[in-house]
Amino acid sequence: MVNLLELPPEELKRLLARGDISIAVVGLGWMGLPTACLLAEAGAKVVGVDINPSVVERLNKGTSHLDEPGLERLVKKHMRSGKFKATTKIEEASSQSDAIVIVVPTLIDQSKKPDYSAIENVCKEISKGMHKGSLIIFTGTCGPGVTERITRSILEKHSGLKAGEDFGVGYSPLRAMGGRALTDLQNYNRVVAGIDKKSLDSTCAILSAMTEGELIKVRNIRTAEATKLFETIYRDVNIGLANEFAIFCEKAGIDYMEAMAAANSQPYSHLLIPGAGVGGHCLPVYPYMLLDEARSHGAKLKIVKASRSINEDMPRHIVGLAADGLKSIGKSLRRGRVTVLGISYRPNVKEVRYSPSFELLSLLKRRGARITIYDPRFSCDEIGRFGYRAEPTLKKAIEKADCVIIVVAHDEFKKLDARELAALMGRSPVIVDCTHLVDSVQAEKSRAIYRGVGQGIWTK
Ligand SMILES: NC(=O)c1ccc[n+]([C@@H]2O[C@H](COP(=O)([O-])OP(=O)(O)OC[C@H]3O[C@@H](n4cnc5c(N)ncnc54)[C@H](O)[C@@H]3O)[C@@H](O)[C@H]2O)c1
Repeated sequence: MVNLLELPPEELKRLLARGDISIAVVGLGWMGLPTACLLAEAGAKVVGVDINPSVVERLNKGTSHLDEPGLERLVKKHMRSGKFKATTKIEEASSQSDAIVIVVPTLIDQSKKPDYSAIENVCKEISKGMHKGSLIIFTGTCGPGVTERITRSILEKHSGLKAGEDFGVGYSPLRAMGGRALTDLQNYNRVVAGIDKKSLDSTCAILSAMTEGELIKVRNIRTAEATKLFETIYRDVNIGLANEFAIFCEKAGIDYMEAMAAANSQPYSHLLIPGAGVGGHCLPVYPYMLLDEARSHGAKLKIVKASRSINEDMPRHIVGLAADGLKSIGKSLRRGRVTVLGISYRPNVKEVRYSPSFELLSLLKRRGARITIYDPRFSCDEIGRFGYRAEPTLKKAIEKADCVIIVVAHDEFKKLDARELAALMGRSPVIVDCTHLVDSVQAEKSRAIYRGVGQGIWTK
């Protein structure tokens, strides 16, 4: 085994490129598998570890279980070259590796409390195989203090080794998005921290082999953990502000999109686009990690909390727009034929984690609506498994609908024409647009009842 902590960074990089460094990557999901492939591409001998045997089996056959551009090619290439193999045996992988990169999920539970159990379980297993000189690099998003407080202490307790003396600990959060993970991981700047200088230098040496981006060193791990939460919550808060302004505009007879474009002509104004809510497993989750830490420090994060509540309330607001539109033509949601366009959490991805569409659907269901879904990224069977009726084409889905709610701005919906939409639907159709794709003037000219997020003109 190579003691990475004792190597000068340049020597570590040279050995890695030559294939003399073994790295275990634990967790082969959306972020872990691209990380493993990029490290193999840089020259390291990589063993990928996952708790899921079917993931391991598929990878060892040379195919990726994830639909991520460029990933399949790298999996095939490095399985063939012998630089990458996968296993479920974490202790063995830990004992045979010089560095271990941990990329397992960090979640919140039903009551919105952080759930770090995957990290805890992994640390217990890793510590059985760890040795003097092991370097452990955490990459998961967590509350500031979690790596030092939970993960480091589990590793020390179960290995009998001392962090900073016997083994190193580095931390570098992931900045990448599903659908372009390889490119993001290769090019984005990364924030890095370590429990001491040796951990920091060797973590940087390894990461620099897989990224062209700058490595931004911060003073300690809790700062790096906070950085990831701050940059994500910044977005959640700004979307919350856009949603709040949008609701105001609806009441005040203002077109938010027009006001936003005009306001953003001022160089310091960066107003965002409002919508049906916020999804994905980052923005709806990370604020709760920070709120949890803040509670333990007796700090109140009022804006963070308020933004979450505004964003989580948007599906209810959208249902209100639909009910209002239907009421104006003497109909109601009860037994109304409502078509929902889009269930992904953001445009052009096949990913539904924390998608606001599902809250919207369950509220519509509770109000007694007869729901049909169309999403070009999902088959009818796939949508059926979520418990909803789907149609295979846009035309079929909207034919005779009383109300269409456009939730996700998939490229396929960009060519939606208000006139065609209205013609295909029943008489006096209601169009609720959360995406700002439909021309509201055109919709009204086509005798549709138009309601849009932030569209105040038509309610006055
Ligand atoms: N996906 C993203 O876009 C993204 C972006 C930035 C940060 N992150 C963060 O990256 C981390 C990983 O997220 P992800 O999206 O890659 O998760 P994921 O759910 O896609 O994959 C996690 C993988 O870990 C495996 N796993 C779970 N428990 C395990 C265990 N005990 N031992 C071994 N393997 C185990 C799972 O089987 C799965 O394959 C999280 O902290 C997440 O918040 C994700």
